[in-house]
Parts: sequence; structure tokens; C-alpha cells
Amino acid sequence: MCGIVGYIGKKEKKEIILNGLKELEYRGYDSSGMAVMEKENDNIEYFKAVGKIKNLKEKTKDFTSNGQGIAIGHTRWATHGKPTEINAHPHYGEYSFVIHNGIIENYKEIKEDLEKKGVKFLSQTDTEVIVYLFENILKTETNPFKAFEKTVEKLIGSFAILLITKANEDKIFFAKNAVPLIVATNENNEILFSSSDAPIIGMANDAMYLDDGTYGEAEFGKVRFFKNGKEIHPPRKALPKDRNFAQKEGFRFFMEKEIYEQSDVATETLMGRIKNDQIHLDEIDLNMFDGINNIILCACGTSYHAALTASYLFERVAKTRTKVEIASEFRYKDPVLDKDSLFIAISQSGETADTLEALKIAKNNGLKTLAICNVDNSSIVRLANNVLLTRAGIEKGVASTKAFTTQVLTLWMVVLYLAHIKKTLSENELKNEVKSILKVPKILKVPDGLQDKIHRLSKHYLHGHGFFFIGRDVFFPLALEGALKLKEISYLHAEGYASGEMKHGPIALVDERLFTIALLPQNILYDKTRSNVEEIVARDGFVFAISPKEFDLSDDFIKTSDQKHYMCEFFEMLVILQLFALEISIRLGNDVDMPRNLAKSVTVE
Ligand code: F6R
Repeated sequence: MCGIVGYIGKKEKKEIILNGLKELEYRGYDSSGMAVMEKENDNIEYFKAVGKIKNLKEKTKDFTSNGQGIAIGHTRWATHGKPTEINAHPHYGEYSFVIHNGIIENYKEIKEDLEKKGVKFLSQTDTEVIVYLFENILKTETNPFKAFEKTVEKLIGSFAILLITKANEDKIFFAKNAVPLIVATNENNEILFSSSDAPIIGMANDAMYLDDGTYGEAEFGKVRFFKNGKEIHPPRKALPKDRNFAQKEGFRFFMEKEIYEQSDVATETLMGRIKNDQIHLDEIDLNMFDGINNIILCACGTSYHAALTASYLFERVAKTRTKVEIASEFRYKDPVLDKDSLFIAISQSGETADTLEALKIAKNNGLKTLAICNVDNSSIVRLANNVLLTRAGIEKGVASTKAFTTQVLTLWMVVLYLAHIKKTLSENELKNEVKSILKVPKILKVPDGLQDKIHRLSKHYLHGHGFFFIGRDVFFPLALEGALKLKEISYLHAEGYASGEMKHGPIALVDERLFTIALLPQNILYDKTRSNVEEIVARDGFVFAISPKEFDLSDDFIKTSDQKHYMCEFFEMLVILQLFALEISIRLGNDVDMPRNLAKSVTVE
């Protein structure tokens, strides 16, 4: 989840790019960069800096750009390659510069092909192939825009691209697929590009929100758009007036935006990692699983719930003994650690002190380690032997949503990768698993009317003496996660429980003022869970059932869709639980994004 901005006009270009990038910092900021070309001087000046936009500002403090010209800028959230200056955008060839948001899925094939033709790549990114591919095509195609068109045709994946070239000094070439790109024009003949509204508010009254497959060329006072080789005229939409609102992309809260973003980020998590019905995890050592008989999953909070979920999958699907450890407990228990165990640390931030210390213990005991993390170059990423980035983009809401989703998805891929190595699944079974995992992005799309429905029923839950979220199997960690979300942002007491455990004690609490949120998937242990829920109904508990099967006995009910895999049901129910917590918190007037007593990154013990 990077952010891009572009400008064609007569104003000071550096300032416009820096201000625009500042507005996009919420999309990620492990490094940034810009390239500027002035009309009278066909030199392209470029700058890159690691860290926040203020570092780029410092780097460019002695640079000014006067007169008519073009400029592009980028703020990066690493997905391929470390957040270093070399990997920061713009990437350049011999005479062209490119910035890109998204993932080029077939970059390896393009790179290998270009390397054979003598191209030497500098960075570890997927983006760099775009600029070299363009220059390579331009060797035989004399029209730079046609060369750009041919370049875009060869790219598979998600992209918002801005490319400038000395071969056509006045223009920005652009292309959009599966990630946002907005273009605006104004009465001063200026042209503005951005990943979201915020940077262009105040500079134009309306904007064109490009459709997938759109590309084009822009110069001072003129933009042309194309799709499938034909010129098109995208409609204009009024821009919002409020920047803060625009940063949240129209949502009231970052958490709400992040819930809605899950479908897109899940696509990024999977991108390039599934080919021909198989999982390809090129980032990890091929021999990572050699000699491994056990898995230890270790994390805190929501990430711990992702670990618990994965433990069911490692055992059931990859037939591998798996233990789950709360990092703060693991640290001081003098654990017995055998070298045939792979230690997997899971963390959104990569800075959680307990998880980091647990990882150090595992490493010091000679265990192979893998980090599943959202922040490249974080302490946990730097320490682990192997890393899989979850690619959720920056998560601003303190209550984690999309980070959890991408952790579970990444872990599911690791499970399938291991299952393939250990041959614990038949070819057909593996195919079915892959088919199911590929459905997840669609399942995560919030259906029309769902949030309204949850908003309406949320009013039933503002009083009472507490919540039990219950489920079996992976729906037990999901219940824990639902309860954690609710308590974090509503400050109401909520517990997650394994459905079958209720009768061993907690059922004593049940009365008409105790709320039970029951997760009743159809693909796993439906009858058993249903019996547990009926025991609560029989004691006059207030039950909110979530299931694809009608459940007449409940007080509230949300019907989920008819999925064929329990993990697909898992992700559908996850979104419902997140929205449920959100709606209760809003009704209670709490600070959704910054709940009391909590911090986004817990770097203390
Ligand atoms: C809950 C939440 C926390 C984190 C926990 C671990 O919504 O965000 O429970 O999951 O503090 O943080 P990371 O994943 O950064 O290690």
C-alpha cells in the first residue's frame, strides 16, 4: 500500500509533491522519493530517502524547481525488497523514471528476460522492471506513448504507475489496474495525479477516479485516457472538502476503512504466491522445513489469535505437531526447545517487545525461525532467518483488523506449502484448498446492507453484564478475536470461549442479560456447536447466532453465505465480528481508532 502523486504545471513542484506525499503518509512510509523535470532543462532530478516524508523534505531542502515542468512522488510500504534508498521509488533506467503502487506479479519473468538482454538491475523490487521494459520496447518502437502502452500490456498484477522519460519531456504516462489512481485538472491547466483525494483537495474541484485497465498520457493542459486501445472519457466526481475525511477515504474511522480494505489487501497478500494450483513462497529458504517435525507459533494479542487459528491448520492439513505460545509467557518459562522445531513469530508491527524477546530465545537455542510480519525492516523482520511479509499496508486503527486477516492468510499459505512438501494432501485436495484460499478476497468484501443490519442490532448490546463469543475448532480463536475486538473499543467485558467448555463453568453466568455470540459454521462441527448454543438458550441466555443455517432459537441472527470450506466461513464471520465491535463502540461514543489505555505498538514488557 504505497502512495503516489504527480504534477504537471508551473508551480514549485517539489512543494506540491512533498505536501501531497505528506497527505498520503497514512498509506505507508518506510521510504519515499520524487523525480522532477523542468521544461527548459531536460535533466531529471531525483531524490530518495528512507523513513518518513520529513526525511525527503530534508534531502530536498536546497532544491527548487521553477517554471513549467513535471514531477512524480512516491511513499512506500515495502512488499518486495527492504525499505532502503535503492528500493525506494522512483526507479530509473537510462533516461526514464517510474513510480508504482501495487505488485507486478510476473516481474520475475520480465526481469529474467531483460537480464538476458544485458539489463543490470539495482533494486530488489518488482517496480524496476517497468522502467527497463519500457526503455527496451522503445528501442524498436519509436513512439514513447506506444512503447508505454506495450509495456503496460505485458504487466500482470496490480498497479498505479506514473512514468516520465526524457524521450518525451513534457508528459507523464500513467496506468491503473486494481489499485486506485485519481487524475484531476484545473483552470490553470495543471494536471494532478494521486492515490487518493487528500493531496488534491484545494487544488481542483473535481477528479476522475480511473477504472481498472485505464492508461494514458498527460501534458500541461491536456490528458488523454485509453482502455483496450480506444480513447475514453472518464466521468468527473466532486472532491470532498475535508482532508481528514479524505485520508479515511470517506470512512468515519481508520478501523472502519481498514475493515473495508481487507478484500484488497488479501489480494496483495496472495499475489505472486499462488501459481498453477500451488503455493510459491519464494521469499523463504527452500530448505526451511528440512528436518522440521514441530512448529512453535508465538505472538501476542490478535497476532496470537492468528497463531491459534493456524495451529489447527498445521495439524489437520500439514500433519505437523504444533504448539502455540503467548510470547510474554514463553519468555520466562524456560522452554524446552528442540532443533527439529521451526519457530514462527507473528507480529503486525514487528516491534512487540515480548515477541521479539521470544524470537531471540528461539534463535539463541539454534532453532530455525520465520517471521510473519507486516512491517519490513522492523526488529522482528531483521532478526528472523526467514520472513513473509503480510502486505496489509499501514494499519492505523489500534484495534487490529486487516493485519489479522493477512496473518491468517499467510499462515494458511505456509500450511499448504508444508502440506505439499510433506505430501499430506492429495493433488486434488491441495487444488481444493488453493481454490478456497483464492476465494477469500471476494468473501472479505463487505456486502451491501451488512453494516446497516449490524448497526441496527448493535443497540441490543449496550447494557447487560457481559459477552461470551463461542465457537469450536478455528472458530474458537475467531471467538477470542471477536471478544478482543469488542473489549478493546467498547470497554465492555467480553470473553471468547470454546463452545464445548461452556458447560464446565461459564454456563453458570448465563441469564437473559448475558450476551452469547455463537459462531455456527456449516462445514465443521455444526451439530456439536448447535447443541452447546441450545444449552445457553435453554437457560434464557440472549443469543446472537451467526450461521449459514437458519437458527430459530436465537434472539438475533445473521445468515452467512453457503461456503464449501470452513476457512471461507471463518473470514466471512470475521468481518461480521469486526463490524459488530465497531458499531457498538460508535453507539457508545468511544474513540474507535485510539481506544483508552492502548497503544498500536507495544515495545515495552
Ligand atoms: C489487538 C491488537 C493487539 C496486537 C498485539 C500484538 O487489536 O492490535 O492485541 O495484536 O499487541 O501486536 P503485534 O502484532 O504488532 O506484535
